[in-house]
Amino acid sequence: MKIAGTGSVLPSKVVTNEMLSEFLDTSDEWIRTRTGVSSRHVISHEKLEDMAVEAAVKALEDAGIQASQLDFIICSNVVNEYVTPQLSCIIQGGIGASCPCIDINCACAGFIYALEMAESFYKAGRVQNVLVVCAEEPTRMTDWSDRRTCVLFGDGAGAAVLTPGDNIKSIRLSAASATDKLWQYRLLQPTPYIEKEEVEVPLQMKGQDVFKFAVKAAATDISRVLDDAGLRAGDVSHFLLHQANIRIIQAIRAYLEQPDSRFPVNIHDHGNSSSSSCPILLDECRRGGRFKKGDVVVMSAFGAGFVSGAVVFEW
Ligand code: COA
Repeated sequence: MKIAGTGSVLPSKVVTNEMLSEFLDTSDEWIRTRTGVSSRHVISHEKLEDMAVEAAVKALEDAGIQASQLDFIICSNVVNEYVTPQLSCIIQGGIGASCPCIDINCACAGFIYALEMAESFYKAGRVQNVLVVCAEEPTRMTDWSDRRTCVLFGDGAGAAVLTPGDNIKSIRLSAASATDKLWQYRLLQPTPYIEKEEVEVPLQMKGQDVFKFAVKAAATDISRVLDDAGLRAGDVSHFLLHQANIRIIQAIRAYLEQPDSRFPVNIHDHGNSSSSSCPILLDECRRGGRFKKGDVVVMSAFGAGFVSGAVVFEW
């Protein structure tokens, strides 16, 4: 398969570090130096499903594909206002498609997991055109009085349309269960029979453990996809890494011994938008004219689970 079109949408509300320091014991200096984030787009009046549909429409227009020509829709999402139906079905209706669709929750690695699923459909000869949409509102998961988590995240939707091609050179996924590092509990409806104690807990994170996992997983995943493809890090024109923390990106860059210029970033004004982070960055790079035909691109992402993955493809 190949990536034939991309699209992305951000909420209109921009929240700066200064705005956060009005109600949190934090500072622009702390957040910028520890994370690289200066501001983030935060959902206010928007609905996530509308943003997802808009990103999908942009990607379809970019690819020159009609919604009716889609054979499958994969939506990566951690939370949204619906428990059911799945977001992918809402997107299907919103764009006027009629194909099967599925939601996946692979946290921030969702785009890479979706690409691997789509690639399997192509290899099985079952699809021509696939839409992947990542739509995330992690700002609705954090406790906004917890300075350790809420400063990190931003919301957004990113989409990619896939068509037949041989541009994907390798994809690798990994998972290592570590459920006490990054997690959230939601409260379900009570029943007359529930006897266990249940609580609602906003997003909890052991930041330094996540940091170490992220660097190790990305270094391993990227090395594996490059080996698979018979490439070296120096052959790669662009490394599109999950935008979680600029220091994580710098650590991966140092491991790969490649110049800063090959690592496009948008974390400074987006924050971490979970699985949307990779397709939003991809869309911004593409629309910004950064890619030339034949460029080798690596994408890598990691998230709660832990899960991680990397892909290498030719543009
Ligand atoms: N403003 C000011 N101080 C803050 C703060 C904030 N927003 N957040 C935390 N601190 C404080 C802590 O309370 C702690 O203070 P203490 O020493 O008095 O207890 C101090 O800063 C250091 O905290 P620590 O957690 O050790 O900082 P850190 O250098 O590890 O940075 C993260 C914290 C979260 C930025 C960093 O660990 C990280 O980015 N981890 C990965 C997170 C991630 O990517 N998650 C998503 C994965 S998909």
